[in-house]
Amino acid sequence: MASGSVDEAMRRAVALAARGLGTTSPNPVVGCVLLDADGEVVGEGFHAYAGGPHAEIVALAQAGERARGGTAVVTLEPCDHTGRTGPCSDALINAGVARVVVAVPDPNPVASGGAATLRTAGIQVDFGVRAAEAEAGNVAWLTSMRRGWPYLTWKFAATLDGRSAAADGTSMWITSEAARTDVHALRGTVDAVLAGVGTVLADDPRLTARNLRDGTLAIRQPLRVVVDSSGRTPAAARVRDGAARTWVATADEVGAGPDGRVDLAALLAQLHQRGVRSALLEGGPTLAGAFLAAGLVDRVVGYVAPKLLGAGPTALAGAGVGTIADAIDLELTDVTRVGPDLRITALPRTRES
Ligand SMILES: NC(=O)c1ccc[n+]([C@@H]2O[C@H](COP(=O)([O-])OP(=O)(O)OC[C@H]3O[C@@H](n4cnc5c(N)ncnc54)[C@H](OP(=O)(O)O)[C@@H]3O)[C@@H](O)[C@H]2O)c1
Repeated sequence: MASGSVDEAMRRAVALAARGLGTTSPNPVVGCVLLDADGEVVGEGFHAYAGGPHAEIVALAQAGERARGGTAVVTLEPCDHTGRTGPCSDALINAGVARVVVAVPDPNPVASGGAATLRTAGIQVDFGVRAAEAEAGNVAWLTSMRRGWPYLTWKFAATLDGRSAAADGTSMWITSEAARTDVHALRGTVDAVLAGVGTVLADDPRLTARNLRDGTLAIRQPLRVVVDSSGRTPAAARVRDGAARTWVATADEVGAGPDGRVDLAALLAQLHQRGVRSALLEGGPTLAGAFLAAGLVDRVVGYVAPKLLGAGPTALAGAGVGTIADAIDLELTDVTRVGPDLRITALPRTRES
């Protein structure tokens, strides 16, 4: 079989995997393409939702007998355990596949070992094809599984001069409807949305993923988390409505840091235990500053409106930066125009890099 067809199949498998983004958690997104012994595509699949069939099983079902002697091209190492579904390693062995090509090994100690099982059964297993692409497509899940806390994106909206509200406190709206619609789409891809109690008291946000025009709620809602050391969230706050699950995370329940406020690292670890693999930090500036100062933010998404205010609160406060040498250095990964605004995506550089 031409190696080009394996490479092309992995490119397709990565694209298939992306179709599961937002619906597979706490599972990863996975795509699979099955090639027969001549390198022809005979099946393809992706993991669509937790509890549903894994990508390999979908592809094997399509391929039927044509999988025998063929190659399974998978973005993530096939699982080796029985959870809500059986082990994919066994399914591949039973289908008579001759070779399995994997982009990224499974870091989950519960499910890993698929490659070893396949090799024991005499199947050739190769790793690393288009690994960087597959890794990028699954970055939230892989990162959270490797270190035990969710992949955290800090999202903010600001004017071109970095303001998040005017001098009189008004802030609705800094960004356009197009940008705010984009934020709701972003909420739909994460497992949890976090906000500080300051934002809840000031703005009474719903923190749901919904259609801005008619208010229709997305089918899958992230867990709403209010970071609220002493439980100041009002009983009538919108975030407590029945539209989605809500956790008012207090210092008593989570644990307190040295300042008596909610211990943010412990909060993330507890979210991981609840199955949260990706989370969106929606502010406000105090909480965002604390997360950034603690080095707990993996990605920054800023919506910047072409407006100037000249005064008013800034999008970020108290991030522990006193001098220019201590600035939190970011690497730009994407700049996209959303309606009249810009969406800027950047990754904090580690201090060592
Ligand atoms: N432009 C934007 O993107 C954006 C987004 C969101 C909000 N906002 C604006 O931000 C304003 C509210 O900002 P804010 O800074 O007052 O509130 P905030 O950042 O939402 O919440 C801050 C509060 O979080 C609580 N908290 C709990 N644990 C903490 C910890 N470890 N570290 C830091 N804080 C912790 C603290 O209250 P306790 O100690 O009582 O727990 C703290 O006062 C509003 O006006 C809102 O409109 C703007």
